[in-house]
Formats: sequence, C-alpha cells, structure tokens
Amino acid sequence: MTALPESAPPAPVDVVVMAAGKGTRMKSALPKVLHRLGGRPLLSHVTATARRLGARRVVVVTGHGAEQVEASLAADAQAAGAPAALRCVRQMPQLGTGHAGQQALPELADDGIVVVLSGDVPLIGEAALRALVTACAGERLALLTIEFDDPTGYGRIVRDHGASGAVRAIVEQKDADAAQRAIREVYSGVMAAPARLLRGWLARLDNRNAQNEYYLTDVVRLAAADGVEVVAHRTDDALQVAGVNSPSQLAALERAFQHRQAEALMAQGVRLADPARLDVRGTLACGADVEIDVNCVFEGAVTLGTGVRIGANCVIANAGIEAGAVIHPFTHIDGESAGVTVGEGARIGPFARLRPGARLGAEVHIGNFVEVKNSTLAAGAKANHLAYLGDATVGERVNYGAGSITANYDGANKHRTVIEADVHVGSNCVLVAPITLGAGGTVGGGSTLSKSTEPGALTVARGRQVSFANWQRPSKSAKG
Ligand code: UD1
Ligand code: CA
Repeated sequence: MTALPESAPPAPVDVVVMAAGKGTRMKSALPKVLHRLGGRPLLSHVTATARRLGARRVVVVTGHGAEQVEASLAADAQAAGAPAALRCVRQMPQLGTGHAGQQALPELADDGIVVVLSGDVPLIGEAALRALVTACAGERLALLTIEFDDPTGYGRIVRDHGASGAVRAIVEQKDADAAQRAIREVYSGVMAAPARLLRGWLARLDNRNAQNEYYLTDVVRLAAADGVEVVAHRTDDALQVAGVNSPSQLAALERAFQHRQAEALMAQGVRLADPARLDVRGTLACGADVEIDVNCVFEGAVTLGTGVRIGANCVIANAGIEAGAVIHPFTHIDGESAGVTVGEGARIGPFARLRPGARLGAEVHIGNFVEVKNSTLAAGAKANHLAYLGDATVGERVNYGAGSITANYDGANKHRTVIEADVHVGSNCVLVAPITLGAGGTVGGGSTLSKSTEPGALTVARGRQVSFANWQRPSKSAKG
C-alpha cells in the first residue's frame, strides 16, 4: 500500500459555518455576519478559508436575516467560481449552537471530517484548521482552544484531574461554578469531528442548562462518555479566534487586520509613511520601491507598478497604476467594474477624480479638479485644471484647457468626443458631442463647438469682442 502524502487529510473535509445568530450587540439592522472586515463581509472571510482548506462541501446555517445572508453567499460563491460546494440550511428558530449543528448534519456524508466554524470569527487560519483535521484523524474529537488572561464569556475546557489531563467537557460561562470560571483555557468555537460520531452526539443533546439552549459544546461530554478521545489543539494567536460581537470588537479587529496587511506589504519592500494609517479593503499588489503616504484607502483590486508614489489621503479602487506614476494627495480613483489605468510616469492630482473606464497613457498629466470618465488619453496628453473629459478619445500631446468640458450627454444618450493628436483646446470650452477635433488644430478659449473641426485649423466660436469708447456708466438718479 502506498502512503498518502503528508498534506492529504485523513478523510474528506466538510465545513459547517454557523451564522444564524442575531448579533444583538451590534445594534444593527444588518445581520452580524454581513458586517465588513477589510471591505468584505465577515462570513465571506470564513467561506474563503473553507474553500482554501479544500472543503468538499460548505454548509452555512442561516437564520437571522437569512435571505440577505444567503444572497451575499451566492454572490460570493459565484465570484469564487465554486457555487456547487456551498449549501445553506435555515435554522428557525435559533435554539443554540447544537441545534444549528443538527440542521447542518443531514447535508453531510458519514465518511467526512466536519470542521465547525463561526461566521463571526473571520480570521481563523487555514493552518490551524489543517492541524485540527490532522488531530481529529477521522476518529477523535479535536477542539481549538486558547488560553486567555480574562476568559469571561467563553466556554471553559474542563480536564481530568489525573495525570492524563484528558478533556472531559466544555462548560459555558453561565453554567460554570467558581472553580470552573477560574479555568483560563477556553473553547475557540472551532472543532473538527468525524461526521458519523458527531451525528450521534448531536441527536443526544438536551437543553437542560442555564440558557435552555442546545449547546454544541455538550458533544465533548458525550464523546468522553463514549470513550472517544478528545484532543485540545492550543493556539496562541488570539486574532485567529477573535469573535465579533460589538462595533467596538469589529473596529479593533479591523485595525489588527489592517496592521497585518501593512506588515506584509512592508515585508515586500513597500514603504508606508505610517502603517497605522493605511486601509486595504481588497487586494493591493505592489512592485518594487512603492511609496504610500498617510491615510490612503485601497479598495477592490489595485496594482501599483515599480516606483509608484501615492500622496496622502488618496482613495484608490479597482485600478492599475503603472511604473513611475505619481498620484498626488487627495485624489479619488474608482474603476468600479470597468477599471482605471494610469500609464507609466503619469502625474495625477492633487484633487483629481478618475472614474470607470479612464485609460491614461504614459506621461499623461491630470491636475486639480479634473474629472475623467470612460475616456482614453494617449501619451503625453494634459488636462491640468478644472475640467471634464467624459466618453472622449484624446490623442497624443493634446493640451486640454482649464474649465473645458465635453458635453457628452444630451439628456437621453451619451456621445463621443474625439480630440486628435496635438490639438490645443483653450480654456473654458464646451465640446458638444458627437464631435471630432482634427489633428493639430486649435480651439480658441471660451468656444462652444457643436461641429467638427479640420486638422490644423484655428476655430473660435464665441461672441466677437466689441468696445465702446469712453463709456459712461449710469449714475444714481437724484431721489424723487
Ligand atoms: C460559543 C461557545 C463557547 C465558545 C464561544 C467562542 C456554545 C454553546 N458556546 O459561545 O463555548 O467559547 O462560542 O466564541 O457553542 N449560532 C447559530 N444558531 C444558534 C446560536 C448561535 O447559528 O442558535 C451561531 C452564531 O451566529 C455564531 C455562533 O453560532 O456565529 C456562536 O454563537 P454565539 O451565540 O456567539 O456563542 P457564544 O456564546 O459566543
Ligand atoms: Ca460569539
């Protein structure tokens, strides 16, 4: 018989995620597990970890806000390209974590190892779960435990007094006596158990306890009674088992999460002015020698090429910034689903706004209070002050004057503006689309153009200037 590779789990792994609870302490209409950490729902961190674990099936127990939670899960699974593995079961009413387990087990086969996770414990790591699965080995009950200086509120790990120190039970805070409350080793809410054994234990649960709930944690007592070995796998990483029960805990976990991301970026060589003032709510991929000043927020998928510098107070979402580009302070970039690209050596801001479909070539300059949407700017084009470019195709080296706008919307449809290479658009022009400005042409400041122009021509479309010599302004008439 050939030995299995060490990384292979002893049996197929199925995951149950408990997410039916109300989350009363969040004091929010939004179901607790949909509150966001690092820009995505708490629950989506957990299901992503389950996927990375290679779970054969993921069963999410929903209850409070079930429809909203299930819709979020479906969108997530779709995006991850693995909708088949995910199942939701509803727990109505919610009679405790053991009752939640009872709803999930019918979805799972007997040959698997069941890993139980909580939807409100988002940062549980894959490695800890693999260790738990290995400890379970298809025949033991494995608990993830941690020692806290202040264990208040958690289920305590009760062990044999004898030399073995075997785990006998988990006792919930509300059911614990003084001696049990003094135990500092607590249950993290994460366990791994053979499905066939868990099924039997869940069927034997009762709700004779301080909360009249069916406690999942009572399976420990039942396992011990059946002579099944219970192993406690201890972690010392409190972040991984931290639960979110209140806005304060959510904010604390967000900071810890961001700190971890900042450390990872710095380890790659990214220079952060202050790791405590960075928020990455998605993925940020950086080349060498990237510098990021304080208070920047990155959302969705953002890539920063070699030597990119980001000034203070920028918000950048779904964008690719190419090598050597500089984004000056207070710039807002949001590519949404269409994306934004900023070419090599471009200079953007301060106070610029790049919207979906902005494609800027090399060395493009976009200055203060300039908005660009669904427009392509070729290399070396410049719009330095107070301008709007929407649905435009802008050629190389075009200079687009202060205060000029593309009038791209006629109230019903959007139309395109084409500005060919080397055109110079003066200040305060209105380009009424559809329109094409021929290469090398010049548009006089203050023009409103509704017709295309010839290459090389100077076009002026405004009232001719007139002067009246020695003009007498009216004076105030005597009071009558
Ligand atoms: C639970 C454990 C406790 C452990 C702690 C770790 C039990 C009885 N206690 O306590 O030993 O130290 O987690 O954080 O399991 N849920 C449902 N349906 C329900 C009740 C809860 O799906 O009927 C879900 C909740 O949404 C939550 C999870 O189960 O995601 C845990 O429930 P919660 O009420 O927060 O349990 P704790 O009191 O924290
Ligand atoms: Ca909890």
